[in-house]
Amino acid sequence: MSDVFMNTYHRLPVRFVRGEGSWLFDAEGKKYLDFSSGIAVNCLGHAYPPLAAAIAEQAAKFNHVCNYYQSEVSAAFAEKLVAACAAGGMKKLFLANSGAEANEGACKIARKYSLKKYGAGRHRIVTLRGSFHGRTITTLSATGQDKFHRDFGPFTEGFAFVPGGDIAALDKALDKAAVAGLLIEVIQGESGIIPQTPEYIEAAARFCAERDILLMFDEIQCGLGRTGTFLAFEQYHYADGRPLKADVVTLAKGLCGGIPAGAVLAGEKAMDVFEPGDHGSTFGGNPIAAAAGLVVLNTVTDPAFLKEISRKGDRIISTVKSWNHPRVKEIRGRGLLTGIDIDADAWPFLEAAIKRAGPGTPGLLLLSAGLQTLRLLPPYTVSDAEIDEGLNIIKEKL
Ligand SMILES: Cc1ncc(COP(=O)(O)O)c(C=O)c1O
Repeated sequence: MSDVFMNTYHRLPVRFVRGEGSWLFDAEGKKYLDFSSGIAVNCLGHAYPPLAAAIAEQAAKFNHVCNYYQSEVSAAFAEKLVAACAAGGMKKLFLANSGAEANEGACKIARKYSLKKYGAGRHRIVTLRGSFHGRTITTLSATGQDKFHRDFGPFTEGFAFVPGGDIAALDKALDKAAVAGLLIEVIQGESGIIPQTPEYIEAAARFCAERDILLMFDEIQCGLGRTGTFLAFEQYHYADGRPLKADVVTLAKGLCGGIPAGAVLAGEKAMDVFEPGDHGSTFGGNPIAAAAGLVVLNTVTDPAFLKEISRKGDRIISTVKSWNHPRVKEIRGRGLLTGIDIDADAWPFLEAAIKRAGPGTPGLLLLSAGLQTLRLLPPYTVSDAEIDEGLNIIKEKL
């Protein structure tokens, strides 16, 4: 293990040299079934041939042009992404490089929208307890988990947290005179695959519309098809049954299938908030990322492909439920975003699943979420046989 890296990650004892589909291989040739997808990034698996070809083809043309110009490939990607999010009300976007950067953009949009319309002082952004929105000082400020708030203050001012599920608390927190935006993951990823109820999201949308507070969904982990619809919040509705529309949506992680990318999208209300000079990002909309992103979007917007994601997710949940295993406390999730609560810390379990690898015996790559939740984020291309193999390893380790 190299020791030149800063000590920021609890690393597991493995180093990879190549990947193929749902599998990664180390230098000794041991193989590992990847149920982590690089934390929801490699949505089409490793070395997916159309993705590799698109990246190589773009690299042979040019890698980058600055954002003073458009490139054909970035424009095509942007158009396709806005179209993919049109059902959620999105009309325009800003392209960035990561989830934190996308959420920074969302916070800036909410603040400027409110400032221009209502003047200074109405800049608060409300988020949920247990949320995770990124690692920059501002997105840490937006993250509703105390453990991230040690050691790095002072934080960006103007964020407030509410407990998910508590409609009365949300009603109180969304003070029309002080709040510019509400930022929500409809299914929280990092804290344990925690879905918000339809009633809660409906109430949030209603309060935001009544009070002209921007309704912003962080779909960085749960979006891009992972729950079986392109955006996870498409599965939520207004009280009268109409599909929900957001004011702002953020995406990253799987957006370009493993090439760094992020996006902040906005609907009618907020799409023209930014003016020249307000915001920017050197690598945002990078042509190689855009070429890769086109492959992801062309695949993940196919209704039959999305249906398969739901079916595979149902297979995971029904299989784990069928075990009736005494060490499994609960299984939650939708599509290929699953959390299995166990009766012990998840981390040693992750280590054991990797260390199992040997000649002829695969290891399994899993994630944790919270302390005692195993988080399963397989690539969308995972096969039924691979799902069964991965689940059997989990059962063996339980
Ligand atoms: C919901 C959510 N928002 C934001 C982020 C931050 O994304 P990034 O690590 O790309 O900055 C993450 C990363 O895990 C996330 O899960």
